[in-house]
Amino acid sequence: MNALIKAFYHESTSTISYVVYDRQGGHAAIIDSVLDFAENSGKLWTAFADEQIAFVRDNDLTVDWILETHAHADHLSAAYYLRRQLNSKIGVGEGITKVQKTFKLIFNVDDAELAANGDVFDHLFQDNESFQIGALQGQVLMTPGHTNDSVTYLIEGNAFVGDTLFMPDSGTARCDFPGGDAGVLYDSVNRLHQLPPETRLWMCHDYQPGGRELAYETTVAESFRTNIHIHDGTEKAAFIAVRENRDKTLDVPRLLYPSVQVNIRGGQMPAAESNEQAYIKIPLSVSTSLK
Ligand SMILES: [Fe+2]
Repeated sequence: MNALIKAFYHESTSTISYVVYDRQGGHAAIIDSVLDFAENSGKLWTAFADEQIAFVRDNDLTVDWILETHAHADHLSAAYYLRRQLNSKIGVGEGITKVQKTFKLIFNVDDAELAANGDVFDHLFQDNESFQIGALQGQVLMTPGHTNDSVTYLIEGNAFVGDTLFMPDSGTARCDFPGGDAGVLYDSVNRLHQLPPETRLWMCHDYQPGGRELAYETTVAESFRTNIHIHDGTEKAAFIAVRENRDKTLDVPRLLYPSVQVNIRGGQMPAAESNEQAYIKIPLSVSTSLK
């Protein structure tokens, strides 16, 4: 069965969201949705997610799944909004509980507000678990390394890889967030590179290196042959050195703190305080002279 795929590009975060469906009038999944957010004002809106809702309505689709490839650190997920609008369920890899645990400590979130057991999601996928999108058959592959909850959704010969791979000219995503590990990412990329060579790989991000045109689709064969960080013959130690050296040069992502605080809650905002206002926190690194 052929999956039908519609890509949506969110320019300000360089994210690609996907609607994957079996036929017009059939069933769909929305993968890696984005909530619009202005970090200077705290304003949130849903214009981008509403594009997917309009597409779903135009094609008379029932959305079975809102799927997250991982807890993103560069954009806020619209999963909670879409789930309510479309009466759907949110799926994520079971490693999300580790991510919740880690960031609850960093942001001092108490157990009453958020349990680190994944209960803000509807379903936690295990490795190799199967799922259905109408007539489409999906399978979940654990592909940790960028984060420890990263998964790939393999749907009828299409692998939605999240940040486990970038386009061949961009290589791989950073591994220096809490829970990231370059050696683990190497093994995950190899797992993807062992899929049938004609498997189509769909990216979650594209940063258009050198100003080239937007691109978000490649194949296992092409990635295995030409990915600048991991290709046929790349040794694990060599990849780890390249990845870790590059990570040392990277700044904190613009939306890191807002993203993880919302995304570990399945796309919900932190609880409002006693003045009925919700906030995003920024952990401060205070030099001794300021203490
Ligand atoms: Fe990411």
